[in-house]
Formats: sequence, C-alpha cells, structure tokens
Amino acid sequence: MKLPKLLQAVLVVVGVYIAFKLVFSVGLKQPLPSSLLTMYMFFVVVATLLVTTATEESAQEMAAPIKALVEDPGKKTIRNIVFVLVPLLAGWMTYSKLAPSFEAPVELRTIHPAPPATMKAFGKSYDLLKLENPLRKYQKEDPEKFRTYVKEGGAVYYKNCHYCHGDKLNGRGQYAPGFNPMPANFQDVGTIAQLQESFLFWRISTGGPGLPKEATPWLSAMPV
Ligand code: HEC
Repeated sequence: MKLPKLLQAVLVVVGVYIAFKLVFSVGLKQPLPSSLLTMYMFFVVVATLLVTTATEESAQEMAAPIKALVEDPGKKTIRNIVFVLVPLLAGWMTYSKLAPSFEAPVELRTIHPAPPATMKAFGKSYDLLKLENPLRKYQKEDPEKFRTYVKEGGAVYYKNCHYCHGDKLNGRGQYAPGFNPMPANFQDVGTIAQLQESFLFWRISTGGPGLPKEATPWLSAMPV
C-alpha cells in the first residue's frame, strides 16, 4: 500500500519536528530555542514542498486529496467537519498565544537577603540591628522640617536613582531593560514599604557589591 503524497509530506514534517525536540531536549538536555525551531521548521516545510511538488504529476498528486475534499460531493460530511475544525483550531492557537498569563515567573533569587549585623559605610561602622533613621522622629515632632528632608531625598533620588528605578518609582527607568535582575519596583508593597529602614540603608549604601557572599551570583547592577 502506498501512502498518499500529502500524508507522506505531513509525516516527514511532523517526524522532523519530533526528532528536533527529542535530540535537543532529551539527548542534549538543552531545549532548542523556539525561534530557532521555528526557523528550522520553516526550511523543512519549504524543502518538503519543493521535493513533493517538483514535477507537474507529483504536484497534482499532492493536491488531489485537498481537491477531493473541497469538490467531491461524497465527502460532504468530512468537508463540513474540516471547515468547522480549521477556524476553531486557528482561533484557539491565536488565543493561547495572546492570552496573558498571570503566573509569576520562576524566581530563584532571594530578593531580600538577610543583612549582616554590622556594616561599614562612609568610614563608619553601623550596628544594623539597632540602627534607627535619625530623621524619622521629625515626622511627628516637626512635620514641616520632615517635609523638607523628604524633598531633599527626592532630589537625591532624581540625581542618582531614577535612571534605573524609574521616575515613577516603578523600576522602569531608561536603563532598566538592560539589567537582569531588573531594578526593584518601589511601587510594589513588597519592597521599600515593608522593609526596615536600616535594611534599606544597608542596601542603598553598599549596593550590589555589598550583598552577602552566600547565594552568589546576585548579578545585581545596583551601585554603591
Ligand atoms: C544602575 C542601576 C541602578 C541605580 C542607579 C540604582 N539602583 Fe537600586 N537596584 C538596582 C537593581 C538592578 C536592583 C535589584 C537587584 C538588587 O536587589 O540588588 C536594585 C535594588 C535596590 C533596592 C533593594 C530593594 C529591595 O526590595 O530589596 C533598593 C532599596 C534600591 N535599589 C535603592 C536605590 C536607590 C535609593 C538608588 C539611588 C540612590 C538606586 N537604588 C540606584 C539598580 C539600580
């Protein structure tokens, strides 16, 4: 029994696809990037079409089942099924490509590493367990004065931080796309809002180089 040419072509393409998947994922334990796989498969499909339609005769043989499906009055039921299934399949594929996923990306990095007990900065040693923000008391005692300090802090932020952490504090500054891990998003309640000020003092004054030796590489672009 000879397989129809169209089925042969489909089998070749599917077979090569499975072979690529198996060789890379199972054999080399290194999945093929999907853009590369798409490129390879494009050439495989083109080559298969070139071979199977090389002569007038073989081209007609390739097209025969499709022609029959569309024209043969006896194939009405299959035709109707195919004409319903193909748009549904295309719709489903488009939907699953475009539908946003709400799953958090795999994150193996410790985002808030435990700080050391003491740290050195600006030529001084600080005890992080006892360290308090000396300006925080003005929030209640002298709100006017507190506001001027907050303003000064804003100026420091615009001078030093917004390139990375963004002018909306959302971690989307103009340099941000170049870094992995991305600069922290301070609008996220999981960062500055919930962290102790002594922790922030440590992270900001010692930056990426100040991160503990454990669990390296941090690959943090956060400067001192
Ligand atoms: C060159 C880009 C860059 C600049 C400039 C920069 N940061 Fe960062 N920052 C990062 C990156 C990347 C991270 C995330 C990696 C990490 O935690 O070290 C980060 C993390 C942080 C964290 C830790 C947040 C957390 O949730 O643990 C704080 C706080 C922070 N930055 C504050 C600042 C402040 C304040 C400034 C300005 C004085 C600043 N950063 C300037 C890149 C930058």
